Amino acid sequence: MAIDGPSGAGKSTVARTLAERLGFAFLDTGAMYRAITWRFLERDCAPAECAAEPDHGHGRMRAVLADTPLALRAGRVFVGDRDVTSHLRTREVESQVSAVSALPFVRAAMRELQRRIAAVGPTVAEGRDMGSVVFPRARWKVYLDAAPSERARRRSRDFTDQGRAVGEAEVLDEILVRDRLDSTRVDAPLRQSPDALYVDTTGLTIDDVVGRLLSYVRGENDAAPSGS
Ligand code: DC
Repeated sequence: MAIDGPSGAGKSTVARTLAERLGFAFLDTGAMYRAITWRFLERDCAPAECAAEPDHGHGRMRAVLADTPLALRAGRVFVGDRDVTSHLRTREVESQVSAVSALPFVRAAMRELQRRIAAVGPTVAEGRDMGSVVFPRARWKVYLDAAPSERARRRSRDFTDQGRAVGEAEVLDEILVRDRLDSTRVDAPLRQSPDALYVDTTGLTIDDVVGRLLSYVRGENDAAPSGS
């Protein structure tokens, strides 16, 4: 099952819960892009630092990418044996992840790894290009959306839960910048597949959305994508 949508639309929680309910594996592809961004930061070759270099640091980034054995186990993200999960939601990572995820050589490596992971068994994969590019033949495709103000409210609450006070207005600005970068990049931009079920989660609870998607999987509802 492929679930796509912008930041704060509720994808992670919904996809994780749905995977548990269905007995499927859960693949959080945003965490993979965050992990490679963290790695570039650690090795001083993240895009913002390398902008002035003749190749924008791409040579060094390729070398670091090749030397980054990413693995996802039990909801944690590892680089080799190192659990990097707690580093993935920092503001440093957040400020550069859109630029990193726009790089075609990064996307190609992530795409290959995502396909290898999902080949193991039934999977709920969430991200930006799951239904459109990585798994175009997914059995079920969903596009989750929500009003920007609601997405900012949710992300601001996430930050508060992590002990970081970031106001909604600031989060909203960042969300709008990321939306623009993620949907205007050339390689695999954020876009709804025409055969995906569109769900606006504004004002809905996680349980509402999960219930709706379970009905879709079971083929019970009126919620089939138009055209299917
Ligand atoms: O879902 P998230 O906020 O953890 O995603 C982090 C970034 O990674 C986001 O800016 C877009 C990018 N991303 C992507 O380009 N393709 C994906 N399949 C998943 C995430």
